[in-house]
Amino acid sequence: MRSTPSWLVVEPWTDVDLGVIKVGKEAQVNLVHRTGADNRTCQFARKRYLPREVTFKGQLEQLGVQRSSAFVNDVQYREGRQFRKSRDRRAVAQMSTYGRRLLQDRWTGHEHEIMSRLWAAGMSVPYPIAYGDDVFDLEYIGDDAQAAPQLQAARLSRRDLGEAFDQLIVGLRILIAEGFAHGDLSAYNLLWWDDRLWFIDFPQAVDIAANLAGLDFVHRDVTNVCGWFQRKGLDADAEDTFADLLHFM
Ligand SMILES: Nc1ncnc2c1ncn2[C@@H]1O[C@H](COP(=O)(O)OP(=O)(O)O)[C@@H](O)[C@H]1O
Ligand SMILES: [Mg+2]
Repeated sequence: MRSTPSWLVVEPWTDVDLGVIKVGKEAQVNLVHRTGADNRTCQFARKRYLPREVTFKGQLEQLGVQRSSAFVNDVQYREGRQFRKSRDRRAVAQMSTYGRRLLQDRWTGHEHEIMSRLWAAGMSVPYPIAYGDDVFDLEYIGDDAQAAPQLQAARLSRRDLGEAFDQLIVGLRILIAEGFAHGDLSAYNLLWWDDRLWFIDFPQAVDIAANLAGLDFVHRDVTNVCGWFQRKGLDADAEDTFADLLHFM
């Protein structure tokens, strides 16, 4: 069992925003400097989800039109299928105030919850610190001078490419053993820092057991990312990799 990282400053604290690290597809990530009561400090990443509230009922149908894309799981959340109690599902489907609050909670908490499980299982993900209404605080990967580059921008040597691919497999085995598909895995959602590969960006991750398309997501992720390694000249066979992963389910 991994224990809470020792670098983390605990309450009471003062936070200072040091500015934007990156604006991604769906979120803006800032660097935050935190000072604790004993003058201990730490830095972490604060991911702020860009606005995507559901404000009127018809918007669900509008979103439904895009069902084939990355919105699939989003729509599932919004339709309330993730909620066990039928009362909750109804509230979400009808977009009552209660239902909307339920959704917001689930949505922002989802990434935190999944990364907590993966972190505890030993996967190379940033430590998930906490989440609020539309923010998610997590371990910052990088140093004072620069944030860790996305894998696609990391300019790896041939040796490092092989190393990164090996670490990719290690991570994917843990991911599938924990029962999840990432759902948006690419060289943009992997960071490379200090010879280490980090997996990030999990809001669309799905529970394989609860989602009929779960393994399709795994297959698509593997195809995506193996394709990237292949274009870099590595012998990264997607079907072999997928078949290997199935042993770890
Ligand atoms: N913990 C982190 N440490 C350093 N950089 C990060 C971290 N998390 C995210 N980033 C940077 O911010 C970008 C966007 O974050 P991401 O979680 O991928 O959200 P999006 O949905 O917007 O793609 C990432 O591609 C990465 O460059
Ligand atoms: Mg991303």
